[in-house]
Amino acid sequence: MCGIVAACFKKGDVVPTLVEGLRCLEYRGYDSAGLAVLASGLPVRKAKGRVQDLAALLEEDPVPHSSVGIAHTRWATHGVPSKVNSHPHRSGSVVLVHNGILENFEELKESFLEGGTEFVSETDSEVWASLLDHELTKIRAEAPLDSLGVMKALNRAMAKAKGSFGLAILVEDLPGRIFFARHESPLVLGISDKGHYVASDVQAVLKETHDFIYLLEGNCGWIDDSSYQVFDRDLHPIEAKVEHLDWDAESVGKSGYDHFMLKEIEEQGIVLANTLSSTTSSKDRILPDFQVSEDTLRSFDRIVIVACGTALHAGRLGRFILEEAAGIPVDVDFASEFRYRNPLVGERDLILAISQSGETADTLGAVKVAREKGATAVAICNVRGSSLCRLVADTILTQCGPEIGVASTKAFTAQVLAIHLFAMRVGMARRQMGEEELLRRLNVLRASRTAIETLLSSEVRSHIAEVAKKYAYKSVYFFLGRGPDYPIAMEGALKLKEISYLHAEGYPAGEMKHGPLALVSEDMVVVALAGQGETYDKVLGNMQEVKTRGAKLVVLTNTEKKEAIELADDVILVPRTDPLVAPLLHVIPLQYLAYYVALERGCEIDKPRNLAKSVTVE
Ligand code: G6P
Repeated sequence: MCGIVAACFKKGDVVPTLVEGLRCLEYRGYDSAGLAVLASGLPVRKAKGRVQDLAALLEEDPVPHSSVGIAHTRWATHGVPSKVNSHPHRSGSVVLVHNGILENFEELKESFLEGGTEFVSETDSEVWASLLDHELTKIRAEAPLDSLGVMKALNRAMAKAKGSFGLAILVEDLPGRIFFARHESPLVLGISDKGHYVASDVQAVLKETHDFIYLLEGNCGWIDDSSYQVFDRDLHPIEAKVEHLDWDAESVGKSGYDHFMLKEIEEQGIVLANTLSSTTSSKDRILPDFQVSEDTLRSFDRIVIVACGTALHAGRLGRFILEEAAGIPVDVDFASEFRYRNPLVGERDLILAISQSGETADTLGAVKVAREKGATAVAICNVRGSSLCRLVADTILTQCGPEIGVASTKAFTAQVLAIHLFAMRVGMARRQMGEEELLRRLNVLRASRTAIETLLSSEVRSHIAEVAKKYAYKSVYFFLGRGPDYPIAMEGALKLKEISYLHAEGYPAGEMKHGPLALVSEDMVVVALAGQGETYDKVLGNMQEVKTRGAKLVVLTNTEKKEAIELADDVILVPRTDPLVAPLLHVIPLQYLAYYVALERGCEIDKPRNLAKSVTVE
């Protein structure tokens, strides 16, 4: 949460790049934004609201021309969203932007207040600025300040700061350089002929460069227009590896769509094809680059999946996939719960962490706990070089390209696909599956692209838009599914909650009679997943239970299911496919449904209130 972008150019105005970078980072936080440039007095501009509000302010009240600057878009943790609480924050000679939480800020603030420091905001980040300024003052008393002196001060401040931080810093008496540090909040350096960048993620500067250094825990250093230096936590200079990223710069734009979410829903066919081709060899070897050996994969008694949000729902579906294909027990847990219940895991457990961003604090925390207890961890992740990728034995990289809409869509499809491939690999290793079955499954996965494209057609889309219009002002939604359709029901409900602010629940259809049936009224919409599979008859019975009590019934089914079609108020037809991929297909109409309900209700689809995409706080 919160996005940082900073740049040092050889020439030219840095402000357009900073503002554009903030626009690309807005999914990380969008309650206020600000920037500071290197010019006399380190001028700062801040605005409550969106990046466009900051851009408007800069038109009215421009900063002096400068090739060096730092910028920030905020997701409030300490202090309400307001101009004064937005970043950059200043203390003495320091102006900084911060992503993360300074956990001991109250204690530090108290001691600085006693020493006469004044604070203008309610934020922990202003205390970070003060902490660094105090350390700089001590260094200045020892010798004239140079960049190494700043590093020493920063290093001392880092030792005193509890919590997480990504920082980009200007120091008034050392112009031309931007200092940075990271601990549990992501930060990358961008390298180009034009100059250097510091950013919370690559998206911020993908239009400017494809060469990045993914900073490690405890790294700090500086950039200027023609050089950079990275230090480890003991202040030893390190040779950081520059990695080339082949993501298309266009992918951080909307390509003519009204919303990123719609664009990302419609990219799911291509995401499936890309993820499949990058994870299978020309000779149909599954995950040829995956480093965990067959012997190791055979050695576990259990797989434990940890994740949050949409990734957790992919994991819940993954449990069905893995248990069936690999014959191994699977547990699935909220990453945020797992880490705080002293989980019983050890050497015979394989932890599978799933995360689009690879930066979700709860997921990282869960993996750390499991590893401390001796478990082996692997990941499914969309961001190469992310903190999660560095923490685990190996990662299956999904090929979604950047996902920007806060409500995750295409990442889900790619995660489920990656779980299928992983399950096939584990199934082969555990001799639960032969070569022939593996090839059959691979062909089913490949062929599912056609069904996905059918669901993404304009006919399906406009039909769902009509259904959405009809029910957009009902007040409660229940999504019902059984078996592997239950996680899909949960994901459908999550999508609707996130972007339309309606109360929605995903429920196992058979459980309705044990409580929620009491809620059913004419104001309730029930979306029932009544596709193929052995539970169809049971779901039909559950649909009758809610229908007779007055709920409006929207049914996802295929043309053969006449009884379901007759019972429904509205039907969304899905193509009949192999049961292996049916649940995955069912998610697409639910994503559209959430999108069109939110559109009808006039909600901010890509940036829902109170949420952010990369949740780097616990
Ligand atoms: C946030 C996002 C969700 C996402 C979840 C996990 O809550 O709003 O869309 O599913 O984090 O994110 P991750 O990057 O770990 O998949």
